Order: sequence, then structure tokens, then C-alpha cells
Amino acid sequence: MITKIETERFFLRHFETEDASALFEMEHIPEVHTYLGKQPLTDINQMHEVIKGVKAQYQKNKIGRMLVLDKKTNELVGWSGLKLEEKIRSFNYYDIGYRFKPQHWGKGIATETALASLKLGFETLKLPEICGAADVENLASCRVLQKIGLKFTEQFTFEGTLCNFYRLRKEDWLANNS
Ligand SMILES: CC(C)(COP(=O)(O)OP(=O)(O)OC[C@H]1O[C@@H](n2cnc3c(N)ncnc32)[C@H](O)[C@@H]1OP(=O)(O)O)[C@@H](O)C(=O)NCCC(=O)NCCS
Repeated sequence: MITKIETERFFLRHFETEDASALFEMEHIPEVHTYLGKQPLTDINQMHEVIKGVKAQYQKNKIGRMLVLDKKTNELVGWSGLKLEEKIRSFNYYDIGYRFKPQHWGKGIATETALASLKLGFETLKLPEICGAADVENLASCRVLQKIGLKFTEQFTFEGTLCNFYRLRKEDWLANNS
């Protein structure tokens, strides 16, 4: 299982129990959750449960989101990466996602780390397809998904929220990246 990767500016690595307080710093901010169901975490124990869940995914699916650390400062700026998504749609798919502290938005971190996740997914893990979903009003996230090469396919509703769905197949990625 791949537990760490690197981009020009960041180290990406698996979640660990010890990361709870650094992650909670981001997950309790309401602004971060504007398009994620508006339920920021209120208690560090919730963060421990989330980390347990992510670690269980690593074991079960051999894949899961990764923490993003700034190479220069070692600050945990957020998370980014792939996940086997089993709850959002009526079918399972490999999802690409990302979440960062607001002070780091607009610096290209989602784009840089998501491109590394696509490379990991297609080149190393040989996934046939990677998808992404975002609230139609989450313009930054929709923009990132398109910028990294996913194509809009349809809209769907999740828990009352209208979302855009995007897909990228391995052969289309390889055609542009080999
Ligand atoms: C969505 C999120 C991950 C984007 O991260 P980021 O590192 O700021 O993204 P990037 O800087 O790589 O790219 C953002 C792109 O969206 C564009 N953008 C940002 N806000 C926008 C808006 N309101 N309308 C249109 N485009 C917008 C930026 O201009 C940029 O595109 P460009 O490079 O063509 O100019 C970040 O805002 C975040 O963490 N949000 C909270 C969590 C979240 O919503 N996650 C996604 C769930 S689907």
C-alpha cells in the first residue's frame, strides 16, 4: 500500500491518530463546511472517530485520503486524495477529494495535490476510472475537478443538495500524460 507521496511543495501521507488536534483546527471551522453539509466538528473526539474511519478504509480498501504537509514549514494544511466512495451514489467509485484550511485557499494546493493523486491512481494503482462530486454552488471545487481533467457527466441530489458529478477514465488520462 502506498502511504506517502510528494509534490513540488507538499508531502502527502496517511492519517495517524496523533494528527487529531492539527486536523481539528481545520475541521471545526464553519467556513470549511459550507458545501459539506454545514456540520463542522465541535469536539476533538469526533476527530478521533474520523481518523479511525479513514484508517479502517486503508485496511479494507488499500486506499484513502492523505494529509497534506507543507514541505517548508511542516504545517498540516489539509487533506487531499483518493477514496473508495460507497455512500454518495447508488454505485461505488474511486473519488478524488480535498479540503484545506481557509488561509491556504487560492494557492493552487488542491490542483497540485489532486494531480498527484490522479498519477497515483492511474499509474501506480491502475484504477480504471476516477470520479469527483461537488455541490453545484462549490465553484472552486467544480473548477479544480475540471482543471485536472475530469469531465462533467451529470447532476444528482445528495441529502437534498444538488451536486455535479465528474469522471476521468484511465485511457483518457494516459492519452494526455504519457
Ligand atoms: C475547494 C478547495 C479544496 C479548493 O482548494 P484551493 O487549493 O483553493 O484550489 P486551487 O487554488 O487549486 O484552485 C481553485 C480554482 O477555483 C477558482 N475559484 C475559487 N473560487 C471561485 C469562485 N467563487 N468562483 C469560480 N472559481 C473559483 C480559482 O480561481 C482556481 O481556479 P484557477 O486556477 O483557474 O484560477 C478549498 O476551497 C476548500 O478546502 N474548501 C473547503 C472544503 C471543500 O469544499 N472541499 C471540496 C468538497 S467537494
